[in-house]
Amino acid sequence: MKRLAVLGSTGSIGQSTLAVAAEHPEEFAIVSLAAGKNVPLLAEQIRQFKPALVSVQDEAAAAQLRELVAPDLAPEILVGRAGALAVATAPGADMVISAMVGAVGLEPTLAAIRAGLPVGLANKEILVAAGPLVMSLAQERRVPLLPVDSEHSAIFQALHGQRRADVRRLWLTASGGPFRSWEAARLAEVSPAQALKHPNWNMGAKITIDSATMMNKALPVERIEVYIHPQSIIHSLVEFVDGSVLAQMGMPDMRLPIAYALSYPRRLPLNSPPLDLCRIGRLTFERPDLNRFPGLALGYAAAKDGGTMPAVLNAANEVAVAAFLKGRLKFLDIPRVVEQTMVAHVPQPLTDLEQVLAVNAWAREFAEGLTFRQG
Ligand SMILES: NC(=O)c1ccc[n+]([C@@H]2O[C@H](COP(=O)([O-])OP(=O)(O)OC[C@H]3O[C@@H](n4cnc5c(N)ncnc54)[C@H](OP(=O)(O)O)[C@@H]3O)[C@@H](O)[C@H]2O)c1
Repeated sequence: MKRLAVLGSTGSIGQSTLAVAAEHPEEFAIVSLAAGKNVPLLAEQIRQFKPALVSVQDEAAAAQLRELVAPDLAPEILVGRAGALAVATAPGADMVISAMVGAVGLEPTLAAIRAGLPVGLANKEILVAAGPLVMSLAQERRVPLLPVDSEHSAIFQALHGQRRADVRRLWLTASGGPFRSWEAARLAEVSPAQALKHPNWNMGAKITIDSATMMNKALPVERIEVYIHPQSIIHSLVEFVDGSVLAQMGMPDMRLPIAYALSYPRRLPLNSPPLDLCRIGRLTFERPDLNRFPGLALGYAAAKDGGTMPAVLNAANEVAVAAFLKGRLKFLDIPRVVEQTMVAHVPQPLTDLEQVLAVNAWAREFAEGLTFRQG
């Protein structure tokens, strides 16, 4: 029996993780859950999974939760940063699922690694913001990081049993989001409701917008390339030095990469519709258009600068997406805010967590100021 701590349990990935756990009660127990402000859903999760410890974003949410949960079920309820850190290192946990959205997930994820707990990592923003720190700590503590993102999981699966030296390139696939074939002029007037309608995936708001701007594929570095693949059936590909290419395929359902991370190296049966390639009929591929989707080009630039620049890109993007969702920014202003924040930053070599948090705070404040000016 694996005992799980879930960071971001009320989000799209968090809920899918709990759905996989519920499908295999003989395999998984839930020891702790961290949520933000969705108290009614967290209360339901507490009733179903009976964790010993939960955390919410603030005192108001904690008070609401105490009212909703019967005293005989009531787990320990903690709040804010300290609460998330406690959930990530809960006594008895064997594995942590990192699925909060954005840089707020960085500290609890590092705490889990420091405590020697394997991490199922959905929160890719923390790898963008502080990838080298996260990876070196994981190596130092010999803690496995198992990818929960569908592309990362596809590459992880395709690399299985292969020699790293035999890899020529990685190909990430991107659906292209709802505006894949839109003219640049139409993109200017996109509404939040339109941008939230993803053709293939049902995800949280922030990553759905990242998918529409293609910011979610924004860090291709040397030997990593991006294909637009509108059907989202091939989740990514690995090309080897002999020209052979391994692709991982499956229906667009996040329970697949989640279950693989949870049960690796085994596979768990899942109650999901099988992939029917005859019904899908055609798998198509295009090159991304960096002019219509400047998020990708910004990603290349941030990766090239390295150091603290990717953390700035990530923080500015979080602020710009939130402002777009509130109707304060236009869709095409999202990459503008990110770019202007990057231009205002002189990147430094990455040193430690405090530096990343300080850069994150600076970039958030700078970008926030820009969102009022642009909007
Ligand atoms: N969804 C996908 O298919 C998918 C695929 C690949 C990667 N990812 C990555 O996985 C992560 C989660 O994505 P998602 O789609 O599941 O996001 P989501 O639906 O927006 O959920 C985010 C979760 O984080 C919690 N949260 C937000 N701010 C918080 C704070 N300040 N303190 C504590 N908790 C906070 C939310 O709590 P409340 O809702 O209770 O406020 C919620 O539980 C992201 O990093 C995303 O890039 C997602």
